[in-house]
Amino acid sequence: MQVKIEKKSILDVNADVIIVNLFEGVKIPGGVTGIVDKAFKGIISDYVIKRDKFEGKYGELYTLPIPSENKTIVIAGLGKQKEFNPTKIRNLTAKIVRKYSKVKSAKKIVSILHGAGIAGLCPQLCAQMIAEGAISGTYSFDKYKTEKKENNIKEFIITETDNEKFKKAKKGVEYGLITAESVNNARDLINESSQYLYPETLAEYAKENSGVKTTVYNKTQIKKMGMNAFLAVGQGSVHEPKLIHMEYKPEKKAKRKIAIIGKGITFDAGGLDLKPPSSMLTMRDDMSGAAAVICTMQAIAKLKPDVEVHAIVAACENMPSGSAYKPGDVIISKTGRSIEIDNTDAEGRVTLADALAYAEELKPDEIIDIATLTGACMVALGTVASGAMGNNDKKIKDFILKADEAGEKFWQLPMDEEYGDTLKSDIADTKNTGGRMGGASAAGVFLSKFIKNTPWIHLDIAGTAFVESTNKEGIKGATGIGIRSLIKYITE
Ligand code: BES
Ligand code: MN
Ligand code: ZN
Repeated sequence: MQVKIEKKSILDVNADVIIVNLFEGVKIPGGVTGIVDKAFKGIISDYVIKRDKFEGKYGELYTLPIPSENKTIVIAGLGKQKEFNPTKIRNLTAKIVRKYSKVKSAKKIVSILHGAGIAGLCPQLCAQMIAEGAISGTYSFDKYKTEKKENNIKEFIITETDNEKFKKAKKGVEYGLITAESVNNARDLINESSQYLYPETLAEYAKENSGVKTTVYNKTQIKKMGMNAFLAVGQGSVHEPKLIHMEYKPEKKAKRKIAIIGKGITFDAGGLDLKPPSSMLTMRDDMSGAAAVICTMQAIAKLKPDVEVHAIVAACENMPSGSAYKPGDVIISKTGRSIEIDNTDAEGRVTLADALAYAEELKPDEIIDIATLTGACMVALGTVASGAMGNNDKKIKDFILKADEAGEKFWQLPMDEEYGDTLKSDIADTKNTGGRMGGASAAGVFLSKFIKNTPWIHLDIAGTAFVESTNKEGIKGATGIGIRSLIKYITE
């Protein structure tokens, strides 16, 4: 399916399906919907609104066949104007594409630029949301199904006649397509069976698909770097751990240098502190942070910001076995700080401790880590918002704002020193966990001890990375959370 924007009237595209819209309560459509209404002799105002009482509730789709012209007009409800926002454009477009991809005759769709008319939103953002929604709406993880999801749509065309709006919207479409592709790629990686997706294959993917310089370190090399905490977590698996380091350098002098780190546990069985079956079931998603940073790099390679970006993944599997690390073990991490293993299932922070230390050696201006880190974060924020913490309040707030613009919700959790009180160890500098209470914040405090003074943001996506029931975007399973925010935060 091709998504593009054309500078012409919606009526000048010979499409099978014409998408227009209506805010709730509107009786006489204006703007482009009004133009279509007039061209079809008032059919929307007389028939759809007056006779059929279509109210324009958000997400409602009214299908109006025009047999004489072999076309269908779809009137999409935008809901209440004051509640309207860019994310709604994305979700609505995903819904439309999901629906019409199953319709044989819907080969060519033309769409109004939702939001840029009376709603007065930025045309670039609106176009971006439509492009993202359209691509997201085609997503399905069906590689292991004999019957694949069909998509009959060949072309999805957005139209805009106003020159200024068109220019902005064109940029939005380009940016949206790049972002959406990264998100779908991450979804594929996360949904993939851990049978096939393990440190080596993840590293291979990064090397071949990132578009940036990628170095992969093996166990011997990781050992030489002193990353014993990372190695301890992986030592129970038959799969060798891999340290993935991707770097993007702009042609011009970089304005700033950012390191992004993704938790890369390709399967989290819990280790010897084995998880119960129901908790283990979806733990192939424990590399969602890794997928987020790898696929963010794909977009960075295409968008070419004036920012130097390093992506780091300490990839391994957390398994119980005769060689697994054990509760009570003491490990000397890369920084020299010793860790007593209180629970082998709190493994993400142990790998991240070394990844953070590795990142800080690169002397970045800031570090962001993204991790499916704690069940506690999921309990606190559910599947709606992800957690944000760190050592630099201003940067955390900046990130949350950018994420909001990208249509992803992050919520700041406290990270007071006291949350670390439960981590005190009798035999080492710290334990890796101390109990269930305030677990997301305690994990944050644990991580903070492995960074000296670089500004740092920690993102906990445990509740949002993988959803078991269909979300507002129509996605089930891996969501690709974090990528849209990271791209926006890095490039703008
Ligand atoms: N990967 C899990 C966290 C998680 C839970 C992610 C649910 C996604 C959904 C993490 O490694 C873990 O097991 N955390 C433990 C820590 C505990 C032992 C202190 C948890 O949250 O239960
Ligand atoms: Mn775990
Ligand atoms: Zn984990």
